[in-house]
Amino acid sequence: MAVKNKYIDIKVTFMHKLKRGILVTLEGIDGAGKSTLATLLSNYLAQDNIDHLLTKEPGGSLLGQQLRTMLHNNTVSMCPKAEFLLFAADRAQHMHDIVLPALAKHTLVLSDRMADSSLAYQGYGRGVDKHMIKTVNTWIMENHEPDIVFYIQIPVKIALDRITKRGNVNHFEQHSSFLEKVDQGFKALFAEKKNVVFIDGSQNPKDVASTLYNHVKDLLCKQQLQ
Ligand code: TMP
Repeated sequence: MAVKNKYIDIKVTFMHKLKRGILVTLEGIDGAGKSTLATLLSNYLAQDNIDHLLTKEPGGSLLGQQLRTMLHNNTVSMCPKAEFLLFAADRAQHMHDIVLPALAKHTLVLSDRMADSSLAYQGYGRGVDKHMIKTVNTWIMENHEPDIVFYIQIPVKIALDRITKRGNVNHFEQHSSFLEKVDQGFKALFAEKKNVVFIDGSQNPKDVASTLYNHVKDLLCKQQLQ
């Protein structure tokens, strides 16, 4: 009964300001359905009048939109270190323009990808020094860590089927062997982290989004009680 009341009271609770900013990220391989889930989750929050900001990497800032085009078009050859540094530049501008100001105003920030994507894609996928990636990420993010990471899991084969159906494949998505490495990377990275919630991304997106929403409501309620 207490749990039910907690959810009924959520709108009342959020007529008050959050005590601090909250950062939630969605991570996973391409084709996992993160962007659809992020939008559905944002819709659920909006329906309950829960103030939040939905953003993404790469491309959350104006500079980031240009970097995203550069990274996706892949018209000139790019070594793994340069690729990481472009994602890092996108992240730096995103943190500076969007995420840190929103957290300072005690906003709930939802980001479709963030620092863990660089570790999985450039670290595990392309062999860039993971220690260096972690150091740069920590510096850029000014020691902020996500309160929750939703790791949307999906078998690589299903992800590749979805990507192929969607068309418009970016160069990160082209090779199954690369996505396998990234998938293993995410698993290794998240195995021991306490702030990660493993989510089965092969279920109906609305059901998955409502599971995410329940986790976010739990987090918001705990934060209000602190
Ligand atoms: P998406 O926004 O459509 O998911 O595309 C972003 C692509 O960029 C996706 O293939 C994952 C990749 N990526 C990295 O390789 N490193 C990073 O740090 C980030 C944020 C994304």
